[in-house]
Amino acid sequence: MSIIYLDNSATTAALPEVVTAMKEMLAENYGNPSSLHGLGIRAEKALGEARRQVAGLIGARPTEIYFTSGGTEANNWALRGLARARRRQGRHLITTAIEHPSILVTCRRLEADGFEVTYLPPDPRGVIRLADLEAALREDTILVSVMSVNNEVGSRQPVADIARLVHSRSQAVLHVDHIQGYGKIPLNCQEAGIDLMSLSGHKIHGPKGVGALYIKEGLRLEPLLLGGDQETGRRAGTENTAGIAGFGVAAHLAATGFAERTARMQEIKLELARRLVAEIPGAVINGPAPEEGAPNILNISFPGVRAEVLIHMLEQRGIYVSTGSACHSRRESASHVLQALHLERWRQDGAIRISLGALNTPAEIDPTVTAFKECVQELWAL
Ligand SMILES: Cc1ncc(COP(=O)(O)O)c(C=O)c1O
Repeated sequence: MSIIYLDNSATTAALPEVVTAMKEMLAENYGNPSSLHGLGIRAEKALGEARRQVAGLIGARPTEIYFTSGGTEANNWALRGLARARRRQGRHLITTAIEHPSILVTCRRLEADGFEVTYLPPDPRGVIRLADLEAALREDTILVSVMSVNNEVGSRQPVADIARLVHSRSQAVLHVDHIQGYGKIPLNCQEAGIDLMSLSGHKIHGPKGVGALYIKEGLRLEPLLLGGDQETGRRAGTENTAGIAGFGVAAHLAATGFAERTARMQEIKLELARRLVAEIPGAVINGPAPEEGAPNILNISFPGVRAEVLIHMLEQRGIYVSTGSACHSRRESASHVLQALHLERWRQDGAIRISLGALNTPAEIDPTVTAFKECVQELWAL
């Protein structure tokens, strides 16, 4: 049975070019970038190329890109590293109530360590209000951390407006978790005025376990990992050269044909949204209106249908989707994002996330809608 994979916000398939680049690093270009011999120098060159490729997509300088073990490490490093570096200037941080656990749990730890965190609530579309941010900014605010795209409902924060506000009204540093937005929405860190930005390889058809933190030139940030002097002494540990090379190729491919690819995702998403709502009575979209959110994420509920049940029925037909977010979909508790949107309980329990990637095609729309319709009707008949 051929499958239709619609869970690209959880993770994506590595593209063939990515796999080829990784194989080469593992089998042939396997030197340690710190070694002084030819193999080491070749590996170091491959890292430099990947740094350029990853930087290119966000308008950063390659020297501002620091490779990490993924998005989670990048988020931990940004928050903890900045808090430690600025603890004498202030102990207040601002974030949103709908961030990824790698931000929220890190904030809880910082609170236990004596920092104070303000969690901004989203409006019903999953977007924070600038007036709330303005009211929360204080003299002792050292960091504002917001996600560019929410991983569960696809809402987009007005990052450029947020940056303007933060920099005009405070001394705080702005961190953006761009892990779901990278390769999906255009965002230039220099033009937008972003100081720190987290990225991850496996959401853009690169490998898992590799990511990056963009650190604006001159910004002081304490390291998270101590040891050797890799990554110019800011992040110790022998580099994951194969993963980094694969991430670089994935970023390069995401930059190539960016506009056409994201437009295609958006078209597929809009058509899926339109047909599911039109053809399944009572279906409702959660979060932003489809045309407002990220081009690839659609969150939808059907009355009287529990998400877990529908997901398993769809899988039997070869359609792969998820509940709110794969990261905590195995837990019983409701999604903190859907709770923060104050959705009725049935919508929270029934929320299905459809997320598109570079490999999805319009030909998948028809069989997907048919499968949803048949599964929901079957459940209603029970
Ligand atoms: C918004 C967001 N931030 C951070 C992460 C964590 O990234 P990684 O899986 O690379 O650790 C994810 C992954 O789902 C995410 O969606």
